[in-house]
Amino acid sequence: MLMFAKPYRKLLFFSLLLTGFIVIASLAQPFIIKVAIDSYIKMNDYQGMMYLGIIYFILIMVSSICTYFQNNTLQFTGQYVIYDFRQAVFKHFSVMQMDFFRKNPIGRLVTRITHDVEALNQLYSQVIVNLVKEVLILIGIIALMLYMSVKLTLICFLVIPIIAIVTFYFKRVLRDTQRKLRSILSSLLSYLAENLSGMSVIQLFARERKQLDRFNELNEEHYRAGMRQTVINSIFNPSIGLFGNISLALLVWYGGRSVVDETITFGTVYAFTHYVRQFFEPLRGLADRFNQIQAALASAERIFETLETKPTIVNPVQPKELPEKVKGDIVFNHVWFAYKNEEWVLKDVHFRINQGETVGIVGATGAGKSSIIQLINRFYDNQKGIISLDGINIKNVLLNDLRRHIGIIQQDAFIFSGTVFDNIRLNHNAVSNEEIIKAAKAVNIDSFFRMLPQGYNTMLGEEGTVLSAGQKQLLSFLRAMIADNDVLILDEATANIDTESEQAVQAALREMSKNRTTIIIAHRLSTIQQADKIIVLDKGRIVEMGNHQQLLKNQMVYYDLCQNQNKGKTLKI
Ligand SMILES: Nc1ncnc2c1ncn2[C@@H]1O[C@H](COP(=O)(O)OP(=O)(O)OP(=O)(O)O)[C@@H](O)[C@H]1O
Ligand SMILES: [Mg+2]
Repeated sequence: MLMFAKPYRKLLFFSLLLTGFIVIASLAQPFIIKVAIDSYIKMNDYQGMMYLGIIYFILIMVSSICTYFQNNTLQFTGQYVIYDFRQAVFKHFSVMQMDFFRKNPIGRLVTRITHDVEALNQLYSQVIVNLVKEVLILIGIIALMLYMSVKLTLICFLVIPIIAIVTFYFKRVLRDTQRKLRSILSSLLSYLAENLSGMSVIQLFARERKQLDRFNELNEEHYRAGMRQTVINSIFNPSIGLFGNISLALLVWYGGRSVVDETITFGTVYAFTHYVRQFFEPLRGLADRFNQIQAALASAERIFETLETKPTIVNPVQPKELPEKVKGDIVFNHVWFAYKNEEWVLKDVHFRINQGETVGIVGATGAGKSSIIQLINRFYDNQKGIISLDGINIKNVLLNDLRRHIGIIQQDAFIFSGTVFDNIRLNHNAVSNEEIIKAAKAVNIDSFFRMLPQGYNTMLGEEGTVLSAGQKQLLSFLRAMIADNDVLILDEATANIDTESEQAVQAALREMSKNRTTIIIAHRLSTIQQADKIIVLDKGRIVEMGNHQQLLKNQMVYYDLCQNQNKGKTLKI
């Protein structure tokens, strides 16, 4: 655990050093006054008094300066910790396979990067150093007290065993409450994330009441656990204070008598009253530390568990290199694939797409069309069989190398915060604005982007303009044109575009698919009639393959599909 403090060890060490000064300074103050009372005031030693005063003043100054630097150092350390861990966790998320995001609700992942990282920050910025400080002060006080008077020390500490028992009991109760609080908070966040992103569905189906009820339930649980914690604390803190005061009373009673008897000096009793008060502060703090440590450890455990979850889709150890430009031969060799266990989504899928061919994939909803695409760019790995690009097994190629060659236009394009230009360009920084406009003009969709409030400079995303489904598809189409990948895949990419724009896009598509391997998934069969090959999928199996004319002649699944879409019209065979 502390191993992870390594990058910050210099800072931590520095603040520990400062802590040493602070502890010495705060312990010395009552002792100096004791010396002043017992040795100098009694003797009317003005010069001695002055020296002591100067020493006292210097101590206070040193202590303040050290405290200032220590606080800052700790805060800096905390900020570094937050920065580093957030980055590490996010970076880790970005290499995880899609499967990971399916299994982990967004709320949980958000908690990792916010709440858990924050708890870890506490560990570094507050717990470690304060723990040392409190222990040192306690030891220091006990040592000084014993040095001054063993008897008085024992009297003062009569209540210590009781305090220990009370603390132990309270903290155990408190720990359970806190654990509960954290688990409720996590559920609450998950629930919140899910509901916020699904709000339109909730409102549409008038489920607000139901969702709210469930939320209230969680919220109330959280409230009750929170209240419990407050109440426990509100009993605990004063009771420690009470014992402190009992201790003080014992001290005044016995100490006062001893001063009268002249067995103990007045200065000693004075210093004792200070030390007793000082003693209970760190004691209370220490009790808190253990809770903080526990919370931080729990968070740290979750963070490291996340960081240690290895991605399952990884680069090969000895990668083969794809050529700068691939031909685009894609082969599925008896491929079996399931998202989980043995629920096969693709069953013995076997086909070959040759260089430059345009291939259509059709099939009912849920047949497995999109899954084929997920496999080609390795969002998922198939369990059996081999998928190859240009004769190289795609599992033997670096992920980036593979994905660089494959352009996918999906049904629901994701829009990032940024301008239209940024969104089309993505990471092809060398492409100029003019080139983008030229590409848009070439396919006659330039006017759509000009119509937006600030044309191509319109801000999109979270706080910007929202594009319609069709506009998004046009945008992602341009993305693919600009990316100019060797293999082009369209998954229901023209479903939301009106007929007029679709014609423009189809023309552009014909242009782009020339000399380029192209895979088109479409429900509208007219889109793929011209394809060199059409693969017909049914419940994960290929049931037919051939071009439009051949498949019509077969009079099987494809023929039925066509007939359904062209109701009434007779089909030309
Ligand atoms: N991420 C996923 N996790 C688990 N199962 C999935 C996942 N995505 C799809 N499936 C399942 O795999 C099967 C095939 O889905 P796929 O998305 O490939 O169908 P499709 O042919 O593209 O359908 P559509 O025409 O509706 O887009 C479906 O039964 C679906 O439930
Ligand atoms: Mg699909």
